[in-house]
Amino acid sequence: MADSPSSETTDKKADRYTITAALPYTNGPIHIGHLAGVYVPADIYARYLRLKGYDVAFVCGSDEHGVAISMKAKKEGVSPKEVIDKYHGIIKKSFAEFGITFDNYSRTSAPIHHKTASDFFKKLYDQGDFVEETTAQLYDQKAHQFLADRFVIGTCPKCGHEEAYGDQCENCGSTLNATDLINPRSTLTGAIPVMKETKHWFLPLDRYEDFLREWILVGHKNDWKPNVYGQCKSWIDGGLEARAVTRDLDWGIPVPVAGAEGKVLYVWFDAPIGYISSTKEWAEREGKDWEPYWKDKRTKLVHFIGKDNIVFHCIIFPAILKAHGDYILPDNVPANEFLNLEGNKLSTSKNWAVWLHEYLEDFPDMQDVLRYTLTANAPETKDNDFTWKDFQARNNNELVAIFGNFINRVVVLTNKYYNGVVPAPATFSQLDTDTLAELRKIPATISSALERYRFREASQELMNLARLGNKYLADEEPWKAIKEDESRVRTIMFVALQIATGLAILSEPFLPFTSDRLKKMLMVTSTTPSDPNGTPDTTEASLGWNAVSTIETLLPSGHQIGQAALLFSKVEDDTIQRQLDKLEATKKDNESANRTLMPQKETITFEDFAKLDIRVGTILAAEKMAKAKKLLILKVDTGLDTRTIVSGIAESYAPENIIGKRVAVLINLAPRDLRGVASEGMILMAESADGKLVFVNPDEDNVGNGGVIN
Ligand code: MF3
Ligand code: ZN
Repeated sequence: MADSPSSETTDKKADRYTITAALPYTNGPIHIGHLAGVYVPADIYARYLRLKGYDVAFVCGSDEHGVAISMKAKKEGVSPKEVIDKYHGIIKKSFAEFGITFDNYSRTSAPIHHKTASDFFKKLYDQGDFVEETTAQLYDQKAHQFLADRFVIGTCPKCGHEEAYGDQCENCGSTLNATDLINPRSTLTGAIPVMKETKHWFLPLDRYEDFLREWILVGHKNDWKPNVYGQCKSWIDGGLEARAVTRDLDWGIPVPVAGAEGKVLYVWFDAPIGYISSTKEWAEREGKDWEPYWKDKRTKLVHFIGKDNIVFHCIIFPAILKAHGDYILPDNVPANEFLNLEGNKLSTSKNWAVWLHEYLEDFPDMQDVLRYTLTANAPETKDNDFTWKDFQARNNNELVAIFGNFINRVVVLTNKYYNGVVPAPATFSQLDTDTLAELRKIPATISSALERYRFREASQELMNLARLGNKYLADEEPWKAIKEDESRVRTIMFVALQIATGLAILSEPFLPFTSDRLKKMLMVTSTTPSDPNGTPDTTEASLGWNAVSTIETLLPSGHQIGQAALLFSKVEDDTIQRQLDKLEATKKDNESANRTLMPQKETITFEDFAKLDIRVGTILAAEKMAKAKKLLILKVDTGLDTRTIVSGIAESYAPENIIGKRVAVLINLAPRDLRGVASEGMILMAESADGKLVFVNPDEDNVGNGGVIN
């Protein structure tokens, strides 16, 4: 390597920043876990750097390839394209609504990405960076396709659970290989998969061991988070193996070499390259050059991700970038742990989540409250729990009682005493001087936390500034002083207004909507200085981050402010209770849906089906069978005759309630003797979510008894 890796630590002066946030899979909408783990911290960081005057490219986009997408499409019976278009739209909108200020939000289905990823593969292929290997994989002969792990279910070899997936058993949590399953079945057709040979390209990670050791284990020992560093160390120490970078799948970027028909790039090969494609797309639109953002050594590259993505961003993608050459490597990868919801793991499939689009329906214009709660309680060093009670407390006790209350007092009193004009201070007391000195210290304190990726700490330092203001007013009591010493009040209000302006500027990364409202109230605008290291102008038009500590007066005497408006409002108990009730209902739904659905049975021909003679009938009489808990003896008019049918529905229906019910009857089932009663057919029933049997009911009356059902 040209540079010694240890020179690339955080204290390196950067000219520009490339900030990436994990590309979300477009197989569902996004929830608070995504926001807390990745997008809110990334956005705070990007906004902060812009306020400091840095050149920032903050990029993201939708991750639209891979098995997750094709699974979802199969499940919904639509094309993968329909799935990605739908969720790309929903996700992009949620990000915009929550004030996530990506410079570009792209998608991996975009032509520019297909080309970029394809070219990357081609270059590595031509350089001989891959090894080719033919291995045997599970193949579905009916569907004519190789089966990704998720498309195979079978019995778990560890615990005997019969519905384990090819990559994981959800019952015992074991990681599996599809070939380990006992009685494997294809989820596509139910067929028993066979082994079939297929050729793939592998990235031999072992070739990068020395480089990774030096770069991460030596170079980033002190500046990467312990959880990230620890995972990297255990991967490297555990021995790096070759990873396949291609897949047999019909959805993705075609492998751009001869002899690879029907194969696509592995989603984890193409997706991180999406950061580069997104940067290119942005640069093209803005008339900029994308290359310095990825190739200039004075650019800091920072990846915001969740902990399940660490190996891809710290080991595999850097190896790919290194193999390609010319590219910079991430300066830091501040991965977060996971957020839970009310004590349970967030889960898309179990609907155990607070969906962003639903949150906004229930809490319109309250994006900042969620951003704040998720930041103050971010899962930075360990998994953390989101609770509605904590959300309420953060809102009521901090945002309303401290921040909102302080601003409201300042703006109301300034209007009341001085018609909204910032008064000229008289002489400063020791407390005034100390308070202003505190204000000037805050930006550096918050910066230090942000630059160490400690967003919780940073948010608390911001709240401390509001506390400082609140306490100052409570101690000085201008509402009392106004009667005795009006000139003292001018000084008090002047000092308080400086703090309010400081809050308006410094809150922007954390509470962007509030910051906007507050700036309007104070009638100030903040623009970013052009040189992050230079001295900011002292004009109020350029109130950037540094201005708070460097300029004498943030809001000069004589400046006119606007009227007070509420920044935050109290969240009442019943509002919180409604959210808790909603989760309780989800829990109930899950419990009843928890009985795993039976997988599809073997396919049958139309001729097989046509053998069934199913008719519309009417129940004429019903009685309990003696000493049988489950059985009713029915007399059914089938149109052809009236016959006796014994049905196992006694736990679901009382006999007297079903007389006259119209039902679907299988009439050519061979008669069976059930406890001495000959049963001549079968009533078709469906099983409801709570395990009750319900009639499959032909409720149109213009089909008479004996009508054929097919
Ligand atoms: N889609 C992946 C996930 O949700 C993240 C992809 S990050 C990227 O876990 F680097 F590949 F883009
Ligand atoms: Zn198991």
